Amino acid sequence: MLRCGHGFPIRQPRLDEVQKLYWLLPGHCFMLRNECSYIFRNLSKSRIATACCSWFFKQRDRLLFMTPPTPTDAVLWRPPAPPLRSNLSIGFQILTGRSPDLLFALPRDCYTKDVVSVPLGRRPVFIVNHPETLRRLFTDDRESYPKSDLMISTLSPLLGNGVLLSAGKRWEHDRKMLEPAFMQMRLEAMFPKMLDAVNTWINRLDSLPKNHIVSLEHELSWVTADVMFRILFSQPIEGDAAKAIFHAFTSFQHHSPQFNLRVVLASNPSRDEPLSAVLKEEAKKIRGTIEELLIQRKKRLSGGETFFDFTQVLIDARDSEGNTFSNTEIIDQLAVFFLAGHETTASALAWCFFLLSQQPVWLSKLQSENDQQLGDKPFAFSNFRQMQKTRAVFRESMRLYPPVAFLTRRAMQEDYFGKLRIPKDSFIVASPWLVHRHNAFWSNADRFDPSRFIEQENAPVTGSYMPFGLGPRACTGAMIAQLEATLILSEILRRFYVKPIHPEQVFPVSRVSVRSNCGIPVCFVRHDPR
Ligand code: HEM
Repeated sequence: MLRCGHGFPIRQPRLDEVQKLYWLLPGHCFMLRNECSYIFRNLSKSRIATACCSWFFKQRDRLLFMTPPTPTDAVLWRPPAPPLRSNLSIGFQILTGRSPDLLFALPRDCYTKDVVSVPLGRRPVFIVNHPETLRRLFTDDRESYPKSDLMISTLSPLLGNGVLLSAGKRWEHDRKMLEPAFMQMRLEAMFPKMLDAVNTWINRLDSLPKNHIVSLEHELSWVTADVMFRILFSQPIEGDAAKAIFHAFTSFQHHSPQFNLRVVLASNPSRDEPLSAVLKEEAKKIRGTIEELLIQRKKRLSGGETFFDFTQVLIDARDSEGNTFSNTEIIDQLAVFFLAGHETTASALAWCFFLLSQQPVWLSKLQSENDQQLGDKPFAFSNFRQMQKTRAVFRESMRLYPPVAFLTRRAMQEDYFGKLRIPKDSFIVASPWLVHRHNAFWSNADRFDPSRFIEQENAPVTGSYMPFGLGPRACTGAMIAQLEATLILSEILRRFYVKPIHPEQVFPVSRVSVRSNCGIPVCFVRHDPR
């Protein structure tokens, strides 16, 4: 009998078991290392982590090779995700003074129960995970559940009263005025700007030395920011103003407190959270630069020049009484579009490329689709609808890694979810991450299976798929994001193989969007080496 290095009897592992080992173990060890650091924070972390990891490695053959896989395991792959943990272990981490990453902090109950109450903080927190209740929150009763005070106080120095944060009549008014900007006709007219940004990026990738390692996430943030810059301001990101905004945004997101579990639990609904000076400073910088761009634009317009971009749409927008947006309002909306529009798309695309790099079958399906639909021609706007498999893979990767993992709301009055009382001012968390992984609404919920978005009989239950939110406040840019993602996927996949350097070390963490723990180091390997 074959024996492992620690003496446990093992048999020859099958391919799917190796795959499982490959993914699960480093993940668990990564978790274990973090876990140890949280628990024994005053002791030598590395010593304890090393001891625990070595114990874990000793168990690995027993744990994995000797567990017969279920039939679905043999076919579908489980991409990296936190293992399910008990409520107790999370409570312990918080009590020991460490706030774990929100994704890692979600206990098993959150994945399986319809509503979970978190009894630890200053105010009641409820995590909702049922499509029916989510539909109620976002549609029928949305007036009673406006955006959370924590989200508003964090983002308002940057976004003012822009459409992402405004409420009531003001929101209705602004959203109506913005509608024309997102009409398909305008998107089609803006498509060449997207294409220019993507081509510039591809030329840069082409010029990189062979085997050069780059961060996939950073690259995608750069190209999606460039796309947004061109469609918002008709300027590429190489300009000084664009670069200044891009870097200030990155720093702003880094200092944003709203995704810190301890801050959420300690927040007080009757007063705003104090914000860091850096956050306020960066917000001021970004708004100042956008204002300069707007002033320059207005000067050039009075000189007779014409433009076709979002800034122009906002300048030209009129409500039913003929009123226009003020300069401050235009700055608010432009900041919203930039914040909401580039980081989210970059996060979704990074996961999509990563998943494809680990799933050669789907990679080759997408390459064949490219060959069939595009041949040697560049991607055109009309190709978007035809790329059925590419769009399905993108949708599946947003199911597994929704860029916005948590949407937060505040209960304005007492309410009931079933028999559960929701006190006034409760903090409500609706999580695409959780509802997308609920076993009652998804078969093989934690497995990668894009075919679920191709076969009609597997269509998701309404309210169980919400990467773009739900109801009237759902994302206005969903169409732009999907068009841009399909374009980038097609254009990259026909030229490059995106090769991760240490795929086994990639793990999701919750930042402003769902990111990886390591930026995903990759090489862009050309199909036709020069
Ligand atoms: C994959 C990419 C994207 C994802 C996953 C995404 C996700 C979301 C989500 C979940 C919301 C709802 C937030 C809530 O209810 O609290 C939202 C709102 C919004 N998004 Fe996106 N978004 C994406 C791309 C974009 C793009 C490209 C734009 C604009 C160019 C955009 C503009 C907006 C705006 C303006 C809102 C506020 C809508 C309102 O409250 O009326 N988003 N987005």
